[in-house]
Amino acid sequence: MSYTTPPNILLSQSTKLSDDTFLQMRKFIYERTGIFFADNKKYLLESRVSRRLSALGLNTFQGYFGVLMNGQGVTELSHLINSITINETFFFRNEPQFNVLEEWILPELIRKRKEDGTNKVRIWSAASSTGEEPHTIALIIREKFQPRFPFTKFEIVGTDINTQVLDTARRGVYKDYAVRNIPKAYLDKYFRQDGDKFVLSEEIRKMTDFRQMNLFDRNAMRAMRGFDVVFAANVLIYFDFNSKQTVVSSIYDSLNKEGYFFVGYSETLYGLTQVFKPVHFDKAIAYRKE
Ligand SMILES: C[S@@+](CC[C@H](N)C(=O)[O-])C[C@H]1O[C@@H](n2cnc3c(N)ncnc32)[C@H](O)[C@@H]1O
Repeated sequence: MSYTTPPNILLSQSTKLSDDTFLQMRKFIYERTGIFFADNKKYLLESRVSRRLSALGLNTFQGYFGVLMNGQGVTELSHLINSITINETFFFRNEPQFNVLEEWILPELIRKRKEDGTNKVRIWSAASSTGEEPHTIALIIREKFQPRFPFTKFEIVGTDINTQVLDTARRGVYKDYAVRNIPKAYLDKYFRQDGDKFVLSEEIRKMTDFRQMNLFDRNAMRAMRGFDVVFAANVLIYFDFNSKQTVVSSIYDSLNKEGYFFVGYSETLYGLTQVFKPVHFDKAIAYRKE
């Protein structure tokens, strides 16, 4: 009896990501975004990129890489980035950091900006994903500071490399996963429930400004200056040592003197740079530019 391989197996073999193409694509992505796929993350790249192959009706990863490299590359790069980034986030994700912001950093900055006459505090969420982090900051400022300091202006900027997540951030419509950690008083006051969705009020949405930005793009980073606080939480983990250093050094330049930098709960600047002074608070570390 003769045995023939079923067509679906043939197809899955022809669409496998070969080691050579993996290395080419990894280099291509790394050079443009700083995101590094270690050898053990090949399966992840393969599964994420296979969605782009289906969308374009392509059968091979090598063919897809050809598209990235030719004229269509610019648009396709944006689609590729949207499909490979990991965008996990939620409101009040690292609560101790937001407590530090509320109890220590914002009062100090408001006082300083009053003294220097600018009366403006500028905060940047540098990998904002779908917006929960900058919106958390806006909620705290709206509830705790704006009524007491009506003459202080607060600017909150959210940026991300992924254009799709920024659309969600601007809409401000969230599922229960995103809002599960929000104190009830905030949820009741600033969200409207619409079926299984939670719609953030316009008064909070208009406090934030979302823009697409690649942290690895030195020119774009040079345009980001004069911030008092920068959050780049849970993004350095996707970079290798060199990209981390590049991004951290750009963020240093973006901060005002005595400005604060926050990274994610499991991230550290230890071993990366000595230009920041770690300031230890209860359950949170802020890095201050001296
Ligand atoms: C896991 S989310 C973190 C969201 C939020 N900061 C938090 O801690 O909850 C990481 C975000 O970093 C973004 N990202 C990855 N590489 C980036 C780059 N080179 N420039 C800007 N954003 C990037 C991803 O698109 C993703 O939305």
